[in-house]
Amino acid sequence: MNLAVFCSGKGTNLQAIINAIRKGEIEARIALVISDRKDAYALRRAKDAGIKAVFVNPKDFSCKRDFEVRLISYLKEERVELVVLAGFMRILSPFFVREYKHRILNIHPSLLPAFKGSRNAVRDALEYGVKITGVTVHFVDEQVDNGPIILQKAVEVSEEDSEESLRERIQQKEHLLYPLAIKLVVEGRIRMEGRRVRIDSLPCSG
Ligand code: GAR
Repeated sequence: MNLAVFCSGKGTNLQAIINAIRKGEIEARIALVISDRKDAYALRRAKDAGIKAVFVNPKDFSCKRDFEVRLISYLKEERVELVVLAGFMRILSPFFVREYKHRILNIHPSLLPAFKGSRNAVRDALEYGVKITGVTVHFVDEQVDNGPIILQKAVEVSEEDSEESLRERIQQKEHLLYPLAIKLVVEGRIRMEGRRVRIDSLPCSG
């Protein structure tokens, strides 16, 4: 299966996916990495891995739809079947989401629906004073951070946590959870019943 990974930043989740594919844990190929930021380190990671990496500047387009039409043309060119949002800090419109219905995944650093829509869910969770937060991988639907949940993992907040230390532990979980969720989707081991996502035989994970 051909994947596209959309990123805006460091790309540590992208790296975890690249590594899982290299190890043969996911039978898929990353056909394309797209970033909406020229300086995203994710683009460097993609190039280093020999993956086509493209910066698409939203400012080059007069409206969001035109920007998304360009994204879709890249996806079609590479015959992408699954779009993986990995720290892509831009909301995709219903136009884009309908084009790839049930074929867009997102990772969010909280236990959704808590801290839905937050651009800094780690800081918001810490400031709110929650004792448990975590990670969610979900399908993208037409509302922000709202689609059916595939996998979640909890992370305890300790008294000593700073934003950095909590983010570090959340990201460690992300790097296990996202490749696993992608593997389940790629292998067709996921069934949707309304909002509920049923998984056939979930393997053990950390
Ligand atoms: C990840 O922690 C991801 O959960 C978060 O951005 C980070 C990207 O890190 N995504 C969101 O907050 C989306 N709302 P990375 O570039 O190192 O993978």
